Amino acid sequence: MAAFATRSAAFLGLAVVLCFLAGAASAQQLSPNFYSRSCPNLASIVRSGMTAALQTERRMGASILRLFFHDCFVNGCDGSILLDDTSTFTGEKNAGPNANSARGFEVIDAIKTRVEAACRATVSCADILALAARDGVNLLGGPTWSVPLGRKDSRTASQSAANANLPGPGSSLATLIAMFGNKNLSPRDMTALSGAHTIGRSQCQFFRNRIYNERNINASFAALRQRTCPRSGGDGNLAPFDVQTADGFDNAYYQNLVGQRGLLHSDQELFNGGSQDALVRQYSSSPSQFSADFVTAMLKMGGLLPSSGTQTEVRLNCRRPN
Ligand code: HEM
Ligand SMILES: *[C@@H]1O[C@H](CO)[C@@H](O)[C@H](O)[C@H]1NC(C)=O
Repeated sequence: MAAFATRSAAFLGLAVVLCFLAGAASAQQLSPNFYSRSCPNLASIVRSGMTAALQTERRMGASILRLFFHDCFVNGCDGSILLDDTSTFTGEKNAGPNANSARGFEVIDAIKTRVEAACRATVSCADILALAARDGVNLLGGPTWSVPLGRKDSRTASQSAANANLPGPGSSLATLIAMFGNKNLSPRDMTALSGAHTIGRSQCQFFRNRIYNERNINASFAALRQRTCPRSGGDGNLAPFDVQTADGFDNAYYQNLVGQRGLLHSDQELFNGGSQDALVRQYSSSPSQFSADFVTAMLKMGGLLPSSGTQTEVRLNCRRPN
C-alpha cells in the first residue's frame, strides 16, 4: 500500500510535469469527445446542416472546406474568418484572398443557430467550421475522420495576417512549400491538402494568365477554359477546378496535374519537374494513399491553434465577438 502510494505519487508528479510541458506548447488540448456530454447531438446537427446546404448547391462543400483552410492559416483555427467588418473593426473577410471570394458564411450561421438552440453557449464557431468542412468533404464522396474538438473563438481577427499567410494563385512551388512550412506543414501535407482543389470553382481572374500565356498546359484544356474566360472582362466567371468530376471528392485533381490540366499556376507547380512530381503521380494512381494523407494533413492543419495568451471565447453569433 505504502509502495503503491509512493509510486502513484511519483506518477502523479510526472503527469503534472508532462501536463505543464504540454500546456506550455499548446493553449488547449483538443479531443473528439469534447462535447460528448455538453452537446451530444452536435455532430448530427452539423451533418444535417451540411446535407441541406449541399442539396441546394453542391459547391458549398468546397466553399466551406476553403473557409476552414483560410481560418486555420491565420492565427490558428479560431473562427476569425467568420467575423464581420464593422465601422470600427477590420476583419479578414476583405483581405485579398477572401474578398469577393470566401463564401458559405450563411451556412455556418444556420448551423450555429441550430447548435445554440440545442446547447446554448457551448460550441465554438471554430469547431462548427471544422466539423462542417469534414462533412462537406465526406458528402461529396471523400473520406471521413474523427475531428478533435475544443477550439475557442477569437475575439479579434487580422486582415494583415490573412494577406501575409494565405498563398496566392501565382505562387511558385518554393513559395507554397515555405508558406505551408511556416504552419509546420510538410511539403507532403501541402501536396495532399492541395487535393482539395478536386472540388469547387475558381474565378477567371485567377487562372487567366495560365490559360493564355503558359506553356505547361494541355492545349485542349486551355481552349476549353478560354471559352468562358476571355482575355479581358469576365473576371468573375467561374470554372471548376476538376475538369472530370467537378463536385466529386476524388484523386482526379492529381490525374489532371499529370495531364497538365491544373487550373491555377500554383496547382501545376506541384507537377512541373519539381520535388512533388513523384508524390503527385502516386496520388494520381492511388485514391487510398491520397485519402489517407489528406486526412492526416487535415488533422494537422485543424490542430493549428492561436498562440497562448490570446483571448478567446465561445462566440454566440459567429459574426461578432460576444
Ligand atoms: C496551395 C495553395 C493554395 C492556393 C494558391 C489556393 C488558391 C485558391 C484560389 C485562387 C481559389 C479560387 C477562389 C475564387 O475564385 O474565388 C481557390 C479555391 C478553393 N480552394 Fe484553394 N488554394 C490553395 C490551397 C487550398 C487548400 C489547402 C484548401 C483546403 C484544404 C483549398 C481549398 C479550396 C477550395 C475547396 C476551393 C473552391 C472554393 C469554392 O468553390 O467556393 N485550397 N483556392
Ligand atoms: C489533353 O487532354 C485531353 C483530355 O482532356 C487528352 O485527350 C489529350 O490527349 C491531352 N493532350 C495532350 C497533348 O496530352
